[in-house]
Amino acid sequence: MSPLNTSENRFSYAVLTMSDKGSRGERVDESGAMLQELLTRKGYHLRAYRMVPDQIGAITHTLIQWVDEEQIDLILTTGGTGVSPTDVTPEAMRLILDKEIPGMGEAMRAASLLKTPHAILSRAMAGIRKKSLIINLPGSTRAARENIEFLLPALPHALDKIQGGTSDCANLRS
Ligand code: MTE
Repeated sequence: MSPLNTSENRFSYAVLTMSDKGSRGERVDESGAMLQELLTRKGYHLRAYRMVPDQIGAITHTLIQWVDEEQIDLILTTGGTGVSPTDVTPEAMRLILDKEIPGMGEAMRAASLLKTPHAILSRAMAGIRKKSLIINLPGSTRAARENIEFLLPALPHALDKIQGGTSDCANLRS
């Protein structure tokens, strides 16, 4: 299907990559590039991309700017969800979210567990700030792709509802 005909076409998105090495120019951001390719192919409009170090201040600053000033509908983050000392993405999320959507993180971990036992190490969260949806994904390209693919079918309805849409949930299932 052409991206022009999809419901995704209504929504803008941004990608934020968390990587100390990447932000020093020591690593190419393959997961960020993959996410941009995938979401653009689905029909979403890319509005912003940035790579920041694993620092709570840098992460919250970018997320607040993208939501409060630029009103980007969907923000995908990649990296920093794990258990190493530098991983602080969920801690940054907790500071800026209005509402958490626990089911998204739960679904990603449950589905990922069928692929790798290491899925339980991701502390990825998703939630709402104002009228934007923010979703954390793990840092490796394969993990980021696998995780976002579990959520993609639910995103247009989620974004519609977050923005006050009144479509009837009962009509979504055949
Ligand atoms: N989920 C899927 N689907 N596939 C994966 O390969 N890797 C896991 C996990 N989730 C993985 C996955 C691993 S090894 C880690 S450490 C965590 O995601 C956290 O990754 P991050 O610290 O790069 O965010």
